[in-house]
Amino acid sequence: MLDWELIKEDGTKYYVDTSISLIRDDHGKAIGFRGILRDITERKRSEKKQKDLEAQLYQAQKMETVGRLAGGVAHDFNNLLSIILGYGELMLASLGKGHPHHEMLTQIYQAGIRAQELTRQLLAFSRKQILEMKVVDVNGVVTGFEKLLRRLIGEDTQLTLALSSDPLMVNADIAQMEQVLMNLAVNARDAMPDGGALTIETKAVELDEAYAGTRPGVIPGSYALISVSDTGCGMDKDILERIFEPFFTTKERDKGTGLGLATSYGIVKQHQGNI
Ligand SMILES: Nc1ncnc2c1ncn2[C@@H]1O[C@H](COP(=O)(O)OP(=O)(O)OP(=O)(O)O)[C@@H](O)[C@H]1O
Ligand SMILES: [Mg+2]
Repeated sequence: MLDWELIKEDGTKYYVDTSISLIRDDHGKAIGFRGILRDITERKRSEKKQKDLEAQLYQAQKMETVGRLAGGVAHDFNNLLSIILGYGELMLASLGKGHPHHEMLTQIYQAGIRAQELTRQLLAFSRKQILEMKVVDVNGVVTGFEKLLRRLIGEDTQLTLALSSDPLMVNADIAQMEQVLMNLAVNARDAMPDGGALTIETKAVELDEAYAGTRPGVIPGSYALISVSDTGCGMDKDILERIFEPFFTTKERDKGTGLGLATSYGIVKQHQGNI
């Protein structure tokens, strides 16, 4: 039995399986072949759909596990860092600038602050942040952040906003939404070292059962869509599969920590959204 991929005259692909058997006459002498072709396009299609769904489910489960792990570690680290920073602050205050250990203690204290920022991002990734939810217009959030975005991406990159004409009311934490926009914009900037175009589009979308059925974790309903696209280098499939993992980065050591998209993922998920 053999599977073949064939192309019809109109260019569409279809799949057939073939079985071929030898025909013999009464004396056992081979006198020909008998072949059967069966159209298995539907089966192939549903097999592929099943495979895609399994891969997505695996991704979602991986993110769950990594999220729980990161959240647990970040939580404990945060408590330990509170002690380090608390006593550090007290010691710095009592030591005075002229003390020979003042400079070293300052370094220790600042490293602690950086560590706290890292754990804060990890907590965002694992959806453990306390959100300040408000009813807001997504378009208002984007335009309110426009000036900062422009400054962030620099003059060589053109920013275009294509916002829905009607307000897009959602329940969200504005600061967290801005955080996501910023992470995406910084990535866009990094992907376009020689400049390019960054486009932010918003619109109301309806995600139906059919769509939700192909994406684990998506609940059908009305959503506000924010699409951020750039004309930068893009990424291949291997990178795409890992972008939401905390600490996954393709950038140099001091250029990226690999937490931007992980935190964005956590924030969006905590808002019952999809990214
Ligand atoms: N707009 C983009 N174009 C091309 N590649 C991207 C884009 N956004 C993300 N990536 C890829 O995904 C990786 C992970 O992105 P992420 O924002 O999580 O981390 P980072 O930008 O490397 O570091 P950090 O955000 O912590 O500074 C990037 O290193 C890059 O390879
Ligand atoms: Mg980033």
